[in-house]
Amino acid sequence: MPSYEEVFRNNQEWLSKKKETDPDFFEKLAADQRPEYLYIGCSDSRVTAEEIMGAKPGDVFIHRNIANLVNAIDLNVMAVINYAVRHLDVKHIIVCGHYNCGGVKAAMQPKDLGILNPWLRNIRDVYRLHMDELNAIKDEHERYNRLVELNVQEQCINVIKLASVQQAYIRNKYPIVHGWVFDIKSGKIIDLNLDFKSILKDIQQIYDLTGTITESK
Ligand code: CO
Repeated sequence: MPSYEEVFRNNQEWLSKKKETDPDFFEKLAADQRPEYLYIGCSDSRVTAEEIMGAKPGDVFIHRNIANLVNAIDLNVMAVINYAVRHLDVKHIIVCGHYNCGGVKAAMQPKDLGILNPWLRNIRDVYRLHMDELNAIKDEHERYNRLVELNVQEQCINVIKLASVQQAYIRNKYPIVHGWVFDIKSGKIIDLNLDFKSILKDIQQIYDLTGTITESK
């Protein structure tokens, strides 16, 4: 890990290298951002969005929180998604969880975790939704990994429930919502291959927000 002082030396080296390969790099970077990806991931220090994707500055709009949750009353994630969809016009929204997620693990413990209780409640709710499947898995570690995957799936559904996402999709046929799990042990990104179109169709039976608000007469 670099020392605090080293961070600034590293930064200097990095920007010199960037300018060597492209003298206008920072001028172009400062002009605008047109990222095609919105990435919603875990705050975990081991899961760095750009690095695992091989992406550059300007490629990915990023939101990270504990256990990559998309909660409709979290103003932070709601503002990020709204801005990414309605202003940046992103083509893909990725929810990326990871195996060995401390947040998911904590939600499986019968413990009072203080301020984390309402946050991790969202994961306990995922467990409750999929209780039969999860309880049928005897191995605790496997059950934990499956909950990581199901949590990603449910957070993707939460993204698809949003008016901004539904309306943009009708207009443009994008953004497409993808569920990923990063396998820390192998370094591999696993695409859960969620069927975006069928999930959208399914949830619109209840969460259809594509109509416009009409004044009552
Ligand atoms: Co995590």
